[in-house]
Amino acid sequence: MATTTDTADTVVAEDGVRRRDFIEIAAVATAGVGGIFTLIPLISQMSMSKDVLADSTTELDISALEPGQSIKAIFRKQPVFVRNLTQAEIDAANAVDVDDLRDAESLADRTLEGHENILVVMGVCTHLGCVPLGAAQGEIKGEFGGYFCPCHGSHYDTAARIRKGPAPTNLEVPEYTFTSDTTIVIG
Ligand code: FES
Repeated sequence: MATTTDTADTVVAEDGVRRRDFIEIAAVATAGVGGIFTLIPLISQMSMSKDVLADSTTELDISALEPGQSIKAIFRKQPVFVRNLTQAEIDAANAVDVDDLRDAESLADRTLEGHENILVVMGVCTHLGCVPLGAAQGEIKGEFGGYFCPCHGSHYDTAARIRKGPAPTNLEVPEYTFTSDTTIVIG
């Protein structure tokens, strides 16, 4: 249940395949108590009280998200990135020895069973809070093909794990669930 504004364009991927790389959507936030949910446009989220904001969720329709594409949305006033990983991105993440990582997590640790190709992370660098690049069309993804924070040069890999630079930990994976094969509720 999301309002979708598709701004995807066609770009030339590194492997020469033309594909749409990025979809930006205006998510619809929901705030609910006792299972009763009220749909609130994103604009209204900005004026939520702190209590309501803390309980708010973001519902995303990812039915149009193809491998290699990302969605940038808002969850509790902060950016959140959802990427449909390609098989090459999954293989790259799984080829890493987790014990060598600064913040030791496998891709499986950071995704939900049965949906290992869908990576949901907060778009907030764990160093000092800048918004990393890599989710939007044409943005650089850093040396490890995931996300890159331009503020002080943190590089995250395809599982959004910190690999180089000052950030101490991986991009945070928020609480989320799949309510259908193509719908995610974050929060
Ligand atoms: S805030 Fe991202 S590297 Fe410093």
